[in-house]
Amino acid sequence: MTNKKFQAINVVFYSQWDSYEKWKNILLKQNINLYQWPDDFIKNKYYPNINTALVWDPPEEMWKFFPKLKIIQSLGAGVDHILNKSYPKDAHIIKLSDPNLSNQMADYILMSVLMCHRKIFQYLINKKNKDWNQIIPFDKDNFGITILGYGTIARIVIKKLKYMGCDVKVWSKTKRNPKNIQYYYGSRQLHKSIKNSSCLISLLPNTSETNNIIGLSEFNLLRKECYFINVGRGMTVNEQELIYALSNAILSGAILDVFSKEPLNKKSKLWGLNNVFITPHIAGITNATDFTASLLKKNFHALISNKKIQNKIINTRGY
Ligand code: GLV
Repeated sequence: MTNKKFQAINVVFYSQWDSYEKWKNILLKQNINLYQWPDDFIKNKYYPNINTALVWDPPEEMWKFFPKLKIIQSLGAGVDHILNKSYPKDAHIIKLSDPNLSNQMADYILMSVLMCHRKIFQYLINKKNKDWNQIIPFDKDNFGITILGYGTIARIVIKKLKYMGCDVKVWSKTKRNPKNIQYYYGSRQLHKSIKNSSCLISLLPNTSETNNIIGLSEFNLLRKECYFINVGRGMTVNEQELIYALSNAILSGAILDVFSKEPLNKKSKLWGLNNVFITPHIAGITNATDFTASLLKKNFHALISNKKIQNKIINTRGY
């Protein structure tokens, strides 16, 4: 009988953005073998010895060459890049949950909140006009923040924002049990959670239920001077209505890291708006870490021993 503990972990890697070399070296330290799709494979052959995939936005045509996949490890916290095409239904899909990534995302959100709170957009315009004009920041008690989504990152952000003295509320799609915070859940309470806030932050994943969940009717509920920060997924926002809100002073500004289609089309009006700050999906950049490599190994062994896998997503829920 083969000892399950010594079953080789053979991984196929696909990403247009992440470094194959870095991951190869990190995984090798855990005796995990990494092969890159398509370079390391001969097409039209099957590879039953590949039992794991490590991927970002994989092309669906690659899956058929790996009939024995047990685990698909996402290279991001989100998994919509896997679920939005056809994928092997027998494999367990695992989201990346690395404290390094969560902290990066939390830092990005704090930076964004402070940019809005200190009205940095106005200073960018003033700089163009060589205009020396001192602007009084918001009073923190008068700068309500609503966070949509209550996962690991939201929990870190809430703690830090509260420490900074901010007034924060949170909304989630399904009922959770957060402590010490004004909390709302479900579609019926969405508008209540947003009403009269000055800053709306979305951390929502892209699922059939969150598609276009944010648009003009939500922006209209915010205060007169208000901001939108999106670090969740672009598909959760109606981008045409976002552009309208930004162009018609319904939103004072937006800080956007994600878009309905990425890379953001060069023709998008968002590029030209003075009150929009754009980053190319970098709020959290996945790095090859020993933490993720050892979790991958642990999960593989847990799976073949019928033990609990960590960070497994529920495919029908989408996260
Ligand atoms: C980034 O968007 C991620 O899914 O980690």
